Amino acid sequence: MTAFEQRVFSGIQPSGTMHLGNYLGAIARFVEMQSSFSCIYCVVDMHAITTWQDPGQLRKATREVAATYLAAGIDPTQHIVFNQSQVAEHAELAWVFNCVARVGWLNRMTQFKDKAGKNQENASVGLYAYPNLMAADILVYRATHVPVGDDQKQHLELSRDIAQKFNNDFAKSIKETGHGEAFFPLPEPVIMGPATRVMSLRDGTSKMSKSDSGSDMACIYLTDSADDIARKIRKAKTDPDAIPSETAGLAGRPEATNLAGIFAALSGRTVDDVLQEFGGAQFSAFKSALSDITIERIVPIGEEIRRLMDDRKHIDAVLADGADRAREIAAPVYKSVKKIVGFIG
Ligand code: TRP
Repeated sequence: MTAFEQRVFSGIQPSGTMHLGNYLGAIARFVEMQSSFSCIYCVVDMHAITTWQDPGQLRKATREVAATYLAAGIDPTQHIVFNQSQVAEHAELAWVFNCVARVGWLNRMTQFKDKAGKNQENASVGLYAYPNLMAADILVYRATHVPVGDDQKQHLELSRDIAQKFNNDFAKSIKETGHGEAFFPLPEPVIMGPATRVMSLRDGTSKMSKSDSGSDMACIYLTDSADDIARKIRKAKTDPDAIPSETAGLAGRPEATNLAGIFAALSGRTVDDVLQEFGGAQFSAFKSALSDITIERIVPIGEEIRRLMDDRKHIDAVLADGADRAREIAAPVYKSVKKIVGFIG
């Protein structure tokens, strides 16, 4: 097997306001991975338009994801931050992958079924082919590690299947063009820590989500004020029992599980550790500690996001520079793909 240089790729869709789930479930981990990998963090605007986006909102949301990457501590000079549509090789490789992936594979994708809902006939073709574009995002950089939430595991498995099938289908050509035994690595999912899935504050069984049609009280936005955060946590749904002193006591208590997970993730502790401290306490006491730690961590990031959002020129320059550097990696990979597949030129 060919050895591949280790590289991280991940992406976030610009399709709404950034919230605590995006931060704990993804960006905080992206920040950590910078010290051990060379990382590419993308704003996946082409994925966003698989469901209709207002163009002005899309521009704003794209800049907001970029601002959040920077505010959270991603260094765009040591690593790469850019928006997907600026590097055409993503779409070009995605087409080749449309011809590698099988209809049967895509038919098994649960996210398509969830997002398309009852009216699959009316979903965009892009929504259906979404996982192929995601595979292209990763493999156009031959990335080896992909930090993602639990809900993206199936898509990542599909990326591996696509890489594997490409390597097999073109094995002879890969060898003949001097690319050894395998052209694409099989990218590894890096599934994230305790609060991988931050759930709604109003319903511990549904994911905290910006597109949640429910009330704003379900979701802590990164640009929320300290007062907003305190109010949302105070009003968060709980159950009548006290905080348990060990994780077994969280069984069947989705809201308690969620709040304990958020506390653990924000404080860099394990859930066990948090429960040992708060076991036996009432939710009111726990919530007040949770509120303090959330405000301490999130408000400074929110302030920096706001500052950056007022400096559009700077954000756009970061994205353009990132796109240039991303293209330098993607272009030769795609050029080899063209050779391998048999495209002239
Ligand atoms: N599908 C991912 C999500 O919704 C976003 C995404 C697009 C992505 N391309 C990617 C994540 C490549 C990791 C790697 O969260």
